[in-house]
Amino acid sequence: MHYSQLTTRVAGEGAAAWDLHVEALTQKRAGRDVIILSIGDPDLDTPSVITEEAVRLLRSGDTHYADILGLPRAREAVAAQHSRVTGQKVGIDNVAIMSGAQSGLFAAAMTILDPGDEVIVLEPMYVTYEATIQASGARLVRVPLKAANNFRLDLADLARAVTPKTRAIFFATPSNPTGVALNRAELEGIADLARQHDLWVVADEVYSTLVFDGAHISICGLPGMAERTVTVNSLSKSHAMTGWRFGWVVGPTDFIVHVGNLGLANLYGLPPFIQNASAMALEREIPEVEEMRAIYRRRRDMAMAALSQLPGVICRSPAAGMFMLADVRGTGMSGSDFSWALFRETGVATLDATAFVPSVTCVSPSPSMRRASLKPAAASRPSRVGWWGRSRRPSGQTRSGSPG
Ligand SMILES: Cc1ncc(COP(=O)(O)O)c(C=O)c1O
Repeated sequence: MHYSQLTTRVAGEGAAAWDLHVEALTQKRAGRDVIILSIGDPDLDTPSVITEEAVRLLRSGDTHYADILGLPRAREAVAAQHSRVTGQKVGIDNVAIMSGAQSGLFAAAMTILDPGDEVIVLEPMYVTYEATIQASGARLVRVPLKAANNFRLDLADLARAVTPKTRAIFFATPSNPTGVALNRAELEGIADLARQHDLWVVADEVYSTLVFDGAHISICGLPGMAERTVTVNSLSKSHAMTGWRFGWVVGPTDFIVHVGNLGLANLYGLPPFIQNASAMALEREIPEVEEMRAIYRRRRDMAMAALSQLPGVICRSPAAGMFMLADVRGTGMSGSDFSWALFRETGVATLDATAFVPSVTCVSPSPSMRRASLKPAAASRPSRVGWWGRSRRPSGQTRSGSPG
């Protein structure tokens, strides 16, 4: 049977990054003692007050269709939190509730990009960006963030990447996988370019509550950026709610209307008990959110201390997030070989970071946080660990599209 060209565009190399993760899950289900550091899914539980509220709502019959753009209460809660945290004053008409940040990224790509457009991405980038952007028919233009420059943005490189076809700049701050949070000068440089060339900016801020060193800054709050910025966020990482799929986009009101039309064609609204319990999580102070940040920070420091003693491995302390990127080239192995060897010998699953950095060669481990099954070697556990070195994909592995 015929399949659309879209199926090719969404089947990029990024999908292969999950092969080891899939193998680790398979072996774990088969009973092997496996430690999964290959995905950014917190091992911490969703705060019980949120779970209890969802259960109560389910029992009370909150189980019917909800508004396509999200329940007014949920949109209001997001608007209030976004206004407070970013400094950009928004209302309910600037907000659409999505199925996690991922569907927010997809909705942004579908509503602002056309085939033939160019989209600038900062590389290393989160692995789903390639397929998400290519699904629209747009082309990725990669601006490498150099390890030698601590993965900081060189604004001259960014400016050189802009062409008459450039439509948007997509980035995550803090970044997965580097853990770098863009500073004010970098964000102002991006904003200058966006205003000058009339570009969209899509800012993925899912790790904004997990900044350990310095402060999180949102580009949407900078002058002249509100009308051209889509901010994507979710409760997945901040509240350990990856499986709830509660996320959102904040943007100009006409953008939200288009996202609503797209939502009619696919998502058709999130379950109302998820939205109401999530709205409650945003309306209240949830002490566990700050506790989680402290836990991740401790784990980062422990992982740094342990990894920096390994011969041939160079690690940078991430300023934010739940990941660590380790340079394993000094071991003489590729990122892929290193992570597969580590998994075979110890049962610790990490992620070859090459998929995040196709133009470089890398492996990455993640301190994602599984309390129960930690072995001493992984006790520091960031949420994901990646390695970089030359990538070589083992043959015969299956693909999966799990998020990271
Ligand atoms: C940078 C980044 N953006 C988006 C996502 C997806 O988040 P969500 O679970 O809210 O869809 C992830 C997940 O790991 C991520 O690392």
